[in-house]
Amino acid sequence: MNKHFLNLLALGAALTVSVSLAAQAGPDVVIPAVSSYTLTPGTFTPGEISRDNPALNFRIGDRKFRDTTPGAYTLSIKPKGITIRAADERGAFYALQTLRQMCDAGNGVLSCCEVTDRPRYPYRGLMFDVVRHFRSKEAVLRQLDAMAMVKMSRMHFHLTDNEGFRIRLDCCPDVARKTAFGDARSFHDILSTTYAYTPVEEPEGYVTGTYYDDGKICGGYYSKDDIREILAYAAERHIEIIPEIEMPGHNLALLKARPELFCNGKKHPQKNVVCVTREETYAFFEAVLKEVAELFPSEYIHIGGDEAKKDNWKACDLCRETMAKEGLTSVDQLQSRFIRRIEKSLNAMGKKLIGWDEILEGGLSENATVMSWRGSTGGAKSIEMEHDVIMTPNTYYYFDYCQDAPYKEPRAFNACLPLQHVYSYDPEKDIAGILGAAYTPELAKHILGVQANLWTECVITDPHFEYMLWPRAFAVAETGWSEAPKDYDRFRRNSERLCGRLREMGINCFDLSAEVGERKAALQEIPRLTRDAKVSFRFSDGRIRDHIPQLADGHLGGWSTRDTTQWISSGSGKVQMTVDLGKVQPLHYIGVEMAEYPLRKRFFPLNMQIEVSRDGVAFTPVDIDMTRWPEDRKDFQIVTVGTTVSGEARYVRIRMDMIRSGAHISEVIVN
Ligand code: ACM
Ligand code: ZN
Repeated sequence: MNKHFLNLLALGAALTVSVSLAAQAGPDVVIPAVSSYTLTPGTFTPGEISRDNPALNFRIGDRKFRDTTPGAYTLSIKPKGITIRAADERGAFYALQTLRQMCDAGNGVLSCCEVTDRPRYPYRGLMFDVVRHFRSKEAVLRQLDAMAMVKMSRMHFHLTDNEGFRIRLDCCPDVARKTAFGDARSFHDILSTTYAYTPVEEPEGYVTGTYYDDGKICGGYYSKDDIREILAYAAERHIEIIPEIEMPGHNLALLKARPELFCNGKKHPQKNVVCVTREETYAFFEAVLKEVAELFPSEYIHIGGDEAKKDNWKACDLCRETMAKEGLTSVDQLQSRFIRRIEKSLNAMGKKLIGWDEILEGGLSENATVMSWRGSTGGAKSIEMEHDVIMTPNTYYYFDYCQDAPYKEPRAFNACLPLQHVYSYDPEKDIAGILGAAYTPELAKHILGVQANLWTECVITDPHFEYMLWPRAFAVAETGWSEAPKDYDRFRRNSERLCGRLREMGINCFDLSAEVGERKAALQEIPRLTRDAKVSFRFSDGRIRDHIPQLADGHLGGWSTRDTTQWISSGSGKVQMTVDLGKVQPLHYIGVEMAEYPLRKRFFPLNMQIEVSRDGVAFTPVDIDMTRWPEDRKDFQIVTVGTTVSGEARYVRIRMDMIRSGAHISEVIVN
């Protein structure tokens, strides 16, 4: 009997204890929803389980079990005992997770049933950004426990970025030491305009794998032993860990420690990208990847590839020379050249390459798997080229975005992705929608699965990290595993209960019972004269959009200003909206609803003027009380600024003076 099997039995023994406290339950309580089940007569009382007369029978590798999908299992609960059949230990492990949730939900008794269950996708993952703010080893292990409960199979470990190189490798031990600590106040405000990455000396007595934060200095990194411990813990839970070493962009930290990797060997204003033609760069990354490949048993290594400031290379003698010699016409192609060479090295180490969807620009390397994050178009494009993809669209799966009404939530990005929205995502429907007639079930085989990403610019502590993950990660688990029809009410009920279990395990979950939900004002149509109106928008650069229907649709914006069906972005400078009501009519009120979000440089306008006109030529100004703008700068706020008016008009013109990136605008209200 090997170690994993013994683990399974140990878990089985634990069931005997917890079941006696629990309530009758069938498989409908489980997240992710099981593929299919039938209830059969009777109940089972697990208290009957004993070592001598085990009522829990495993049939692993049973030839009668024909489903070869890794992780598939059947579970038979009869009045006299439980039988688990699986092709492999992974399947038996998943069966136990199903039982475990049923036991937790039950009342000391399990409903007899026959369950057949198998994963829809092999890849059901979470990405942990441990760079923007470091995460303690213990916090990582806790999340692996929770992931295992809902049968998640991958953890993507984002280990390097602009704010630190958070793994200490033998080939470059100084890089972690020199880059992984910074000024705490500055780090905790990474998105502010005054933030500057200034690494400091490693604090004396620092213990690797712990999150150091004494209020002045914060940071941390993992030793290889820390990583080995995390890997072993994950393997016991059938979770594969995929390391990410970012290149060629997002490398400010590395460049602090290895300035010789800059283009021309010297600093450049856009300083987070390495030179992609210097041999020193390849030598560095190949040494790192070799050591990482030896340490992590995963099939894949993620090499980043996103958001590189490629213009840097245009000013580099070596990069320019290479482009001319090889006939490369764009810096995108230069990045692809770099990724292709890295892929060859990785393949030679027996590993496959994953990159963010920017690796499509300039041409995909031969065997690359694409992680689609800028919505789903990158994923769809890659699938068309018969490349494997992992769907992690920021429109559904970016867990750094807030999950409820922003006024009650900790600081987060201004998009709002509540549990129901996350749950609504279906990768296949999404991709089929983009590809239309080009989509075939054959292409769908290239969807390896789904993943949510938790970036941590605003996520300072481990409990806050957990709060952003759970229960939203349950929705990713269910979408990645289950082909059963979606049922949000059932899922939400099960999520609330499972959060209770996670809290017992010391995990800080978002409290679903206190969820405010979508902005009430956005849920009903407002009375208005703009029913048939046309709202044109003139941006400060002179561009004109003739009609923006969402500005007159009678729906105020919801919490998510990234929802472009409700919100538009004004852009900076002097902008103008003109409303044509179609005919001259009496007016009583004119207002504009706007949102500001200082963290992303979105601000209410400095000035706003309203004018009205009967003929669209001669306009008369309307007095507006600008003192109604809120003076305090909250992280996020929505305000309607307007004024009562009298008289008749057909046209309303609103001129605004925007600062920074301008405001979000959801509606022009005319009554
Ligand atoms: C990313 O969010 N830059 C992958
Ligand atoms: Zn260069």
